[in-house]
Amino acid sequence: MKLRSVRGTHDIYGEDIEKYNIIENKVSKIAELNSFNKLETPIFEFTDLFAKPLGEQSDVVLKEMYSFKDRNEEMLTLRPEYTTPMIRAAITNNLLNELPLKIFGLGPMFRRERPQKGRYRQFNQINFEIFGTNDFMADLELIIIGNEILKSILPNSSFTLNLNTLGHKNNLNEYKIKLSNYFKDKKEKLSDESKEKIQTNPLRILDSKNENDILISNSAPTMQEFISLEEKNHFSEIKKGLDLLKIKYVENNKLVRGLDYYCSTVFEFKTSELGSQDTLLGGGRYDGLIGVLGGPDIPGIGWAAGIERISMLMKLNYNSLCKVHLAITDKKYNSHIQKIMNFLRKNNISFYWNYKYNIKKSLSKANSKKIEYVILIGENEFNNNYYSVRNLNTGKQSQLKESEIIKYLND
Ligand code: HAM
Repeated sequence: MKLRSVRGTHDIYGEDIEKYNIIENKVSKIAELNSFNKLETPIFEFTDLFAKPLGEQSDVVLKEMYSFKDRNEEMLTLRPEYTTPMIRAAITNNLLNELPLKIFGLGPMFRRERPQKGRYRQFNQINFEIFGTNDFMADLELIIIGNEILKSILPNSSFTLNLNTLGHKNNLNEYKIKLSNYFKDKKEKLSDESKEKIQTNPLRILDSKNENDILISNSAPTMQEFISLEEKNHFSEIKKGLDLLKIKYVENNKLVRGLDYYCSTVFEFKTSELGSQDTLLGGGRYDGLIGVLGGPDIPGIGWAAGIERISMLMKLNYNSLCKVHLAITDKKYNSHIQKIMNFLRKNNISFYWNYKYNIKKSLSKANSKKIEYVILIGENEFNNNYYSVRNLNTGKQSQLKESEIIKYLND
């Protein structure tokens, strides 16, 4: 048998794992600053948890779930997303007694989609949720946190915040009926894919990329007349908040999102640097969903971002995980290298040594790993109890006592 990985999966190593670690650290820091607590859920759940909330007729449920029968005949599914497992965990662990609940998590999701650049069958998501408030400040807070995370990880990339409101969930249901009726009359002209959605998910026809579908959608009834004054105010408060912080956005009334549970505010951060899989982060309100899953009838809002897509835009300068490379000319000076390793460990300076007693062989590795500094140990260093420290960027080399090294490395 030829050894291979499963289509649409990928191993994470080298630069990708460094990027993953940087993302995880930044996300955890920003979550902590904003008082979101981490909640990790198992990667599989009972299938029922997903089918109804995500939409029995949605692509995810119909075509993309990895489901299997357990040995006791129970149907299980590898989680295709994080929101429903988070709600399940909040309910079963009694976390909804004190509201609002602000939680975040990060980890692998599974969808059997057609793999392409930026789209995998196992991928990783960052996920933030707030349960238990209607306040527009929660919508704003989550959008701001998403923006903050993307900006801190991708300072040199450009991405655009797209915003829309789908209105109150009752009004949205009325709108969906009206839309279905409109598309039913035009059925013959729609693409096959959109035909299937007339009854089940007419909103998705609005964001079809097919030319005929777009033409027909252009004359479809708009959502605007179904949006209550209260929802309009909610939406305009969010926009005012973004203006105040000078966070740019575009209002995109075609933005409807892929999963069925959304209503009210929806948003996506998109980039032009990734081709067709251009959404880095997406989310919105899902008022009603927690009740549907057997919890109290409280509102919720959240977002998820794709770690692989963010990673693809990241550029690493230095090996952020390793600052110093150690190089030694001969085994005879081993005690000197042990001393410096111990010293660096105590002072939280990351280092790498490859057990080579030959400076040239040792250094070829340092350059390829983009390490910033080399500490060299030879006869003179050993006899006179100092270290030669070379900055690989400038080529400058200095002779330093152990006590001088930390200041030098941190300057
Ligand atoms: P989603 O739009 O399905 O939303 O996924 C969110 C993000 O996950 C996407 O914008 C993308 O970056 C990434 N993503 C999705 N599918 C793939 C894939 N096959 N390969 C690589 N990356 C992918 C949700 O999952 C909702 N649960 C978000 C949410 C949370 N809404 C409210 N709370």
